[in-house]
Formats: sequence, C-alpha cells, structure tokens
Amino acid sequence: MKKRAVFFRALLVSGFAVGMAGADETAQLVIEGETLVTKAAAPAHLQDNLDEIYSGWVFRSNETQALQLDDFDNPAFVFIDAAMDQYQQVEGSADKSCQSCHEDVEEFKGLRTQMPRIVDGKVQTMEDQINKCRTEQMGAEAWKYTGSDMTAMSALIGFQSRGMAMNIKIDGEAKPFWEKGKEIYYTRHGQLDMACSNCHEDNYGNNIRADHLSQGQLNGFPTYRLKNAKLNAVHSRLFGCIRDVRAEPYKVGSDELKALELYVSSRANGLSVETPSVRN
Ligand code: HEC
Ligand code: HEC
Repeated sequence: MKKRAVFFRALLVSGFAVGMAGADETAQLVIEGETLVTKAAAPAHLQDNLDEIYSGWVFRSNETQALQLDDFDNPAFVFIDAAMDQYQQVEGSADKSCQSCHEDVEEFKGLRTQMPRIVDGKVQTMEDQINKCRTEQMGAEAWKYTGSDMTAMSALIGFQSRGMAMNIKIDGEAKPFWEKGKEIYYTRHGQLDMACSNCHEDNYGNNIRADHLSQGQLNGFPTYRLKNAKLNAVHSRLFGCIRDVRAEPYKVGSDELKALELYVSSRANGLSVETPSVRN
C-alpha cells in the first residue's frame, strides 16, 4: 500500500495544485458558431466522487485545442470524408451500401449520445451495430473491431450528434453491465496497482510524465491523436490505459471492455459529444 503511494507520487510531476490549475479554465470550445459543453455538473451517480465533469479538450495545450475549433484544421475530417465514400460503397452478397437502406447519414443524429446501449440483453457498442448491419443486412464481412474502416465509420455516425449532450442509460437492463464496468473502473490493476480512478478522478489536472491528466472522458471518441496521426477507437484507448499500468489488458471488443465503455461513457452524461475530437 505504502509502496504504491510512493511509486505513484514518483510518476506524478507535481507543481500543480489539485484540480484545474494549469489548464485554461476560460477556454471555450466553439465550432462553426456552436458552443459545446466542456464543463458540467457531475451526473447524479457520480456526485459522491466529483462535483464537475470536464471534457478532455479542456486539458490540452492551446495548439491542440485550436485544431478542434475549425473543421478545416481538424485532421480527423480526412477520415470522415473517406467514411462518407465508404457509406455509398456497394458491398456484400446483398449488393447494398449503407446508403441503400439509410438514405441520409443525418438520420443517425442523436444516436452517439446513447451508445453503448443494451440490445437483446447485451451491451451494443457503435462498432457492434455497424458490424451487425454489415453481416446481417449487407452480407459483407465484419470489420476488425478497432480497424481503420470501422473507426472512421463510427466517427462519421458519431459526428452527426456533435454538440448534443451525452445521455447514456444506466438503469433497467443496463444496470448489471454498468455495475460491472464501475467495478473494473475502481479496481487496481497491474504491476503499478492502479485503478482508472487513481489517475482520472484523484489526479486530473496534474501532470504525469509529460502529459496533463484529464478525467478520461469518452465524449470525443473516436478521437484523432497527434501521437499516431489517425483516428483512435474507444477500445484502443482503454486497452492502452490498462497496458500502461502494466496489467494484462482485456481484449478489444471483449465483454469487459464493453461494460467499462458503458460505465465510463455514463461519467460524461451532460458533456457535449465532440466527435471527432483532437487529442495528443
Ligand atoms: C439492407 C438494409 C441495411 C443496410 C444495407 C444497412 N443497414 Fe443499418 N440498419 C438496418 C436496419 C433494419 C436497422 C435496425 C435493426 C438493426 O439494428 O439491425 C439498422 C440500424 C442501423 C443503425 C442504428 C440506428 C439507430 O438509430 O438505432 C446504424 C448506426 C446503422 N444501421 C448503420 C449502418 C451502416 C454504417 C451501414 C453500412 C455499413 C448499414 N447500416 C447498412 C438496415 C440496414
Ligand atoms: C497511470 C495513469 C492512468 C491510469 C491508471 C489510467 N489512465 Fe487513462 N489516460 C492517462 C493519460 C496520461 C491519458 C492522456 C491524457 C489524458 O487525457 O488524461 C489518458 C487518457 C484517457 C482517455 C482519453 C481521454 C480523452 O479526452 O481523449 C480515456 C477515455 C481514459 N484515459 C480512460 C481510462 C480508463 C477507463 C482507465 C482504467 C482502465 C484509465 N484511463 C487508466 C493515464 C491513465
């Protein structure tokens, strides 16, 4: 226990007070004249632990923040444009494209705010829904869960909800999955013996190595990362954070990561969808 605390302190580069010091609290995310909600009161289920929730955008440098202010500067749109071509592409034994059945991609407005959701008694992520249509409706091959085609399509659909508030359902059928995700969130993992909460709840606003820690929110996903110059899927990020504490990560597309995604997404309830966001 003691050893863990010392090790963790060594990881953190202090110099910032707890909380938001170091980030530009006054910065506003305005895209195409629309102001997105990057700070909000914590949803009721979180209020014992956090008063406010913040988008990861708030914690980025001025330069990184700026890339998200204008869709012409946002490198993610190259991938969104490619996904739009893909959307019209006929594929599979049914000789259909997405567009054959879903005429206008705008019909998906609002969907991203509710994903993941429960369908047929299981967590359904955006990726699951897309592959369901590919295999069952098109007679085409499933895409790789975090592959580039999949992530771009997920971003195209998510983008239709940009500016709308995240609104993940956590009760009813969702409850047991949400509880499981919550348990994973607060369980210490790996050689570093750390939980998600140790970084993203106890230490957001602090620096870890060269990085300014955010609350680890998912409202901007898929997100363009400067680090690898491509769109990154939710499960790639969750996998990466677990690997970084030197734990054996759950597989992408696994039930565990889907439950974790459901829980973490619900921590952003009230923040605007930012898809496609830009992060470092
Ligand atoms: C042959 C018709 C057909 C094709 C082709 C098709 N879909 Fe669907 N799609 C459906 C039907 C029917 C549903 C609702 C039932 C379900 O989920 O399977 C649906 C549901 C969806 C939803 C969820 C909508 C909501 O509001 O809940 C998304 C997102 C979606 N499709 C995306 C796609 C994408 C992306 C493609 C191309 C890769 C595609 N679909 C191809 C018929 C189709
Ligand atoms: C050792 C500290 C640490 C732990 C533990 C950790 N992360 Fe992270 N995480 C980071 C860092 C550093 C980043 C990149 C900077 C930032 O956004 O905080 C990050 C980023 C993220 C992001 C992307 C945020 C955005 O706005 O793009 C999500 C989501 C996330 N983490 C979720 C998790 C989850 C879920 C867990 C537990 C399985 C976890 N993290 C555990 C350090 C950690």
